[in-house]
Amino acid sequence: MPFFPLHEGALHAESVPLESVAARFGTPCFVYSRAAIEAAYRAFTDALAGRDHLVCYALKANPNLAVVGLLARLGAGFDIVSGGELARVTAAGGDPAKVVFSGVGKSEAEIRQALAAGILCFNVESASELARIERIAATAGVRAPVSLRVNPDVDPKTHPYIATGLKETKFGVAFEDALPLYRQAAASRSLEVVGMDFHIGSQITEVAPFADALEKGLELVGALEGRGIRLRHIDLGGGLGIRYRDEHPPSVAGYLRPMLAQLAGRSEKILLEPGRALVGNAGVLLARVEYLKHGAERNFAVVDAAMNDLLRPALYDAWHDIVPVAPRSGATRRYEVVGPVCESGDFLGHARDLVLEEGDLVAVRSAGAYGMSMSSNYNTRPRAAEVMVDGASMHLVRRREPIDALFALEQRLP
Ligand code: LLP
Repeated sequence: MPFFPLHEGALHAESVPLESVAARFGTPCFVYSRAAIEAAYRAFTDALAGRDHLVCYALKANPNLAVVGLLARLGAGFDIVSGGELARVTAAGGDPAKVVFSGVGKSEAEIRQALAAGILCFNVESASELARIERIAATAGVRAPVSLRVNPDVDPKTHPYIATGLKETKFGVAFEDALPLYRQAAASRSLEVVGMDFHIGSQITEVAPFADALEKGLELVGALEGRGIRLRHIDLGGGLGIRYRDEHPPSVAGYLRPMLAQLAGRSEKILLEPGRALVGNAGVLLARVEYLKHGAERNFAVVDAAMNDLLRPALYDAWHDIVPVAPRSGATRRYEVVGPVCESGDFLGHARDLVLEEGDLVAVRSAGAYGMSMSSNYNTRPRAAEVMVDGASMHLVRRREPIDALFALEQRLP
């Protein structure tokens, strides 16, 4: 990976040795590469050149203000799923008029907040939600821009926890119900139909499921046109996978090519909601080996990062590459790389062949997406620091949580 090169025996983020990041900010620490995020964003905008488009970064992948602000400056829009994420977009300097609001459980307060901010549209996920948005917009005397998130019932062939475009999931409006709901929305004085969207899942490494979903989506768009309902945009969702180990996800251009062909000759603006593909491989989790436990059955490398910092291995059995920051020569041993949390499921990697000594630094790769954003304080562990490297400089973009912040909102009984 060019943004985290091994240079003279030391792993770097761009031109900064990870050793220096650890020396300055301690571990565990997420380290991001600005150039990597910019390159990933450009891959999308280049592939969409010549088409009216908006790349709406899915904030949930990594909502750090530095990441959001960087993408905002590049011109990105945002896909949000909570009022909290909307507040982050604004705080980071993002434009609410470029925000699409997804999610099955938008609260009344969140809908009011989003209407007041003037977002681009609500990606509506149910008939009840549409009715709620209509009522709140009517009370506020405004028209709410809406798009239906249509569930196309296609199998994205990914981990079941992150597949969202199948009938049995909680997401979106059933394909059969979409047309009547669109007609209802189009007839409302408090709603303005602006688009259609689908998001079929995450970490998808094949092109076909996207094309299948769009094919169904375009059938619907045709049916809408037949009834005089014209859309301003079609939102293709997120979900493009990245390489963690040996996956072969298509390039951004390769992923978009079939869909752009399907959309040839159409004039709607194309929206996308990528998360992982923009930031996943732009970050590593830097950790230090605390203890090595060599045993008859297994060897353990106990590092200072844990499932509370990076939940993906424990939750999805996800594989993340783990590499030494200063590789040593010598015979490898097979390690379980684990954290200090009191759960047997607290692991970052199984059966990794490594040459390690206590005190060594390791980097857990591909931790830029759904790393910090899914972290917790389990075991009263302060959340890791986050650092953004830019060429030869490093910026602390979130300081390590101080311990007292972890119970600052709590009270002892009188
Ligand atoms: N749009 C919507 C409506 C979404 O629900 C998601 C992700 C995205 C866009 C962005 O998807 P991406 O491009 O990142 O695949 N925690 C899991 C991933 C959960 C994804 C949830 N939705 C993981 O660590 O793999």
